[in-house]
Amino acid sequence: LTLTACGSGGGEKQNTSASSGGSGKAVELKIGHTLSDTSHYQKGMEKFKELVESKTNGQVKIKIFPNGSLGGERDMIEGLKVGSIDMVLTSTGPMSGFAPEVTVVDLPFLFRDAEHAHKVLDGKIGTELRNKVESKLSVKTLAWWENGFRNVTNSKRAVNKPEDLKGLKIRTMENDIHMDSFRALGSAPTPMAFTELFTALQQGVIDAEENPVPVIMTSRFYEVQKHLTMTRHFYSPSLMLIAKSKFDGLTDDQKKAIEQAAVEAGKYERQVVQDMEKQYLGDLKNKGMQIVETPDTKPFMDAVKQVYDKYEPKFGKELIESIRNTK
Ligand code: PAF
Repeated sequence: LTLTACGSGGGEKQNTSASSGGSGKAVELKIGHTLSDTSHYQKGMEKFKELVESKTNGQVKIKIFPNGSLGGERDMIEGLKVGSIDMVLTSTGPMSGFAPEVTVVDLPFLFRDAEHAHKVLDGKIGTELRNKVESKLSVKTLAWWENGFRNVTNSKRAVNKPEDLKGLKIRTMENDIHMDSFRALGSAPTPMAFTELFTALQQGVIDAEENPVPVIMTSRFYEVQKHLTMTRHFYSPSLMLIAKSKFDGLTDDQKKAIEQAAVEAGKYERQVVQDMEKQYLGDLKNKGMQIVETPDTKPFMDAVKQVYDKYEPKFGKELIESIRNTK
């Protein structure tokens, strides 16, 4: 099945009505994400689709809607509630508005590397955070996936130190911690859905944005941003969500297949992110981006210390320390 950005279905048979009551009848699940059809999200989802369909002998079909064709991440999370969409792969970016407890993972410079992040998220802390999301939204969380570490791009100048960010109008996700972090770094954060970002950069409404290398490449930000600094200031995890009503309507075998497939495909997706990071850094250079590959991150870390002062009482010092101390 080749999926198009508009997700019209291309004449494929729709069978969403047979999904209720755990009847064991064929089910089609619509899953949305905001990235392009060459992205790590898409590749992970194609793997997820393949696994679910083979584990259920084709009883559960997955239909992928990339490119934000079902809306931005916040819209899609809302869509789960009203049933216009069954599943979403979303960053924790928009979670401030739904389950703020989970945004502890968005604190700047919290994770040392991807391995550290995976240990935390796949362990007890990650499960507790998933439970928090489930208690706030009518969803079942299936697995932690990822975007990777976020880096700053902009159209104005090379960023080597926090002072270089001063006055830059930077798009951030709709996330309180991200906005506070960029305020602390002296720039002017503008929260915006990802679906509006390319045009805003192109039109010069904003100067800067921040995302992991695979997003910068597959969303073609090199066309509208000259400078990239590998600040790796936030780790950006993603959650695979399914509407609770939809999940509860599946048979036990179907549930198991979906849960296993989400974890397996998530591991695959994380590997895709690592591979893309390696390959695309060189590709971005070839596309003409000027890249500061190894900035001194200490002054950036010092500048965002005040973000910890603000959020430590909210999340609890103990939780932050146990994340940091996870080996
Ligand atoms: O920048 C964002 O909004 C997120 O990183 C993205 C690209 C939508 C992936 O979850």
